[in-house]
Amino acid sequence: MRLVFLGAPGSGKGTQAVWLQGRFGIPQISTGDILRKAVTEGTELGKKADSIMKSGALVSDELIIALMRERLGQPDCARGFILDGFPRTIAQGESLDAMLGPARAIQSAIFFEVSEAEIIRRLTSRRTCAQCGRIYNILSDPPPASGACGSCGGAIIQRKDDSEETVLSRLKVYEEKTAPLKEFYYKQKKLYILRAEQPVERVRAELEALLAGLQAV
Ligand code: AP5
Repeated sequence: MRLVFLGAPGSGKGTQAVWLQGRFGIPQISTGDILRKAVTEGTELGKKADSIMKSGALVSDELIIALMRERLGQPDCARGFILDGFPRTIAQGESLDAMLGPARAIQSAIFFEVSEAEIIRRLTSRRTCAQCGRIYNILSDPPPASGACGSCGGAIIQRKDDSEETVLSRLKVYEEKTAPLKEFYYKQKKLYILRAEQPVERVRAELEALLAGLQAV
C-alpha cells in the first residue's frame, strides 16, 4: 500500500496516519516529524529548517526531495508507506513520481476535507509530546494532568507553529502551494476525498472502509 495523505495543516493526517501504521505495519513518513527531529538534534538540516518552520513557510523543495529520496530507499518502505505532509508542492509531487517509477507508483492520494474554522480550532488546541511526538488535543483528547506524556513520560508542549498567527500564515501557504496537488492527483485518477470534519473514530472508520474498497479493486 503506497498512500499520500493530503490536506491542510491540522486536518488530522498525522492522527490517522499513526493509527494506520499500527494497523497495516507500514511506516508513516512525516516530513514535519523528520524536520522537527533534525531541529531538536541541531543537525545541518535542522539549522536550515528551524526559522522557516517557525514562520509557517515551506522548507525548500531541494532539501525535502533529497531527504525523501533517502528515506524511501530504506528497507522498511519495501512493503509500502503512508506519506504524511509530502508532497507539498507540485515540484515535490513530480519528483516523487520520478523517484518511485511506475513499478512503485503512488496508488491513492487521500484528501482530508475540513473547514478553515475547524482547522484553527484544532491547531490552537493541539499539544504534542516533545519526546515521542504523540498528538493530543486539549479539547478532544487531553494529555494527562501531570503534564507528562501518557506513552513515554516526555514533556507535553505546544508546537511553536501552532500559534493563531502562524496557523493563519500556514493556511495561506497551503492554499497557494499545496492545494494544487488535489488537481494533480485528480488528473492521475488517484484522488479520494475523506470527510475529515467528524470525530476521530468516525474519520478512522470511513478511512478504513475507503481503503478496504481500494484493496478490493
Ligand atoms: P507538518 O508537521 O507536516 O505540519 P502540517 O501539515 O501543517 O500538519 P499538522 O501536523 O499541523 O496537522 P495534521 O493534519 O497532521 O493534523 P493532526 O493529526 O496533528 O509540517 C510542519 C512544517 O514543516 C511546515 O509548516 C513546513 O515548514 C515544514 N514541512 C513539512 N513537510 C514539508 C514539505 N514536504 N515541504 C516543505 N516543508 C515542509 O491533528 C491536529 C489536531 O487536531 C490534533 O490536536 C488532533 O488531536 C486533533 N484532531 C485530529 N483529528 C481530529 C478529529 N477528527 N476531530 C477533532 N480533533 C482532531
